[in-house]
Amino acid sequence: NQCLNSSSCLPSILAFMAAQSSLAQLPQIPPITDPKFIEDCVKIHNELRAIVNPTAGNMKYMTWDASLAKTARAWSKKCVFKHNVHIGKRHACHPLFKTVGENLWMGILTKYVVRNATTDWFNEVKYFEMSDNTCSRVCGHYTQVVWASTYKVGCALKMCPNLGKHVVMFVCNYSPDCKPFIILNGLMAPSPTRPPHHTLRCNHSLVIPKRLVFLCCLLFLISYQITITALTSERYH
Ligand SMILES: *[C@@H]1O[C@H](CO)[C@@H](O)[C@H](O)[C@H]1NC(C)=O
Ligand SMILES: *[C@@H]1O[C@H](CO)[C@@H](O)[C@H](O)[C@H]1NC(C)=O
Repeated sequence: NQCLNSSSCLPSILAFMAAQSSLAQLPQIPPITDPKFIEDCVKIHNELRAIVNPTAGNMKYMTWDASLAKTARAWSKKCVFKHNVHIGKRHACHPLFKTVGENLWMGILTKYVVRNATTDWFNEVKYFEMSDNTCSRVCGHYTQVVWASTYKVGCALKMCPNLGKHVVMFVCNYSPDCKPFIILNGLMAPSPTRPPHHTLRCNHSLVIPKRLVFLCCLLFLISYQITITALTSERYH
């Protein structure tokens, strides 16, 4: 399983055994407008975002986006375990956002499906090496869940009998999307310009505002100029 880029990472596959015991109380598939479903999706994402290590300096709080949920629903209806072919095309998946990210999950329907799927994505953190920003397997779902500037999410659940008994697809779309990875020598590597934790690591106490530096230089030059002008006019007049 190789990731070609952040939005076309191969989805993670769940072990089907885990859910057998809870099949007796198989829940209903909620529509994307269901308040409990929306709350579940948003809550687990924010819970996982809150536990990134090291702590985030400027991570945004994630909220629901109905348009993203519609995109997720439209794609989930196809019941194919592949990424939305329109992801990556600008302005193709959302009326306002240029680009959209996507995480896919397939597994057995349980009442914990939203929580378990999102946690599976987050658990890719174990393949992610903080010290040199590299990924040993697949990390694109993790980075999309915790990407600091992503603040909109919309998800959909769909029963997919063609994929197996009680099998569901869980699709989440995100905006703005994360783009942490580039391909180096055929291997996945985080982009040097935007490493996944760049924003998470930000140490505000080290940041000197550029405007302040510019203003100081400007003031110095002006007072220097005034002094020179004063001295020369004294000498010649
Ligand atoms: C799914 O989530 C529930 C509730 O958080 C948890 O008890 C259970 O262990 C999870 N199952 C898997 C397979 O992760
Ligand atoms: C942030 O920078 C300050 C000042 O250089 C330093 O004392 C502190 O340990 C840094 N914090 C982190 C989390 O790196």
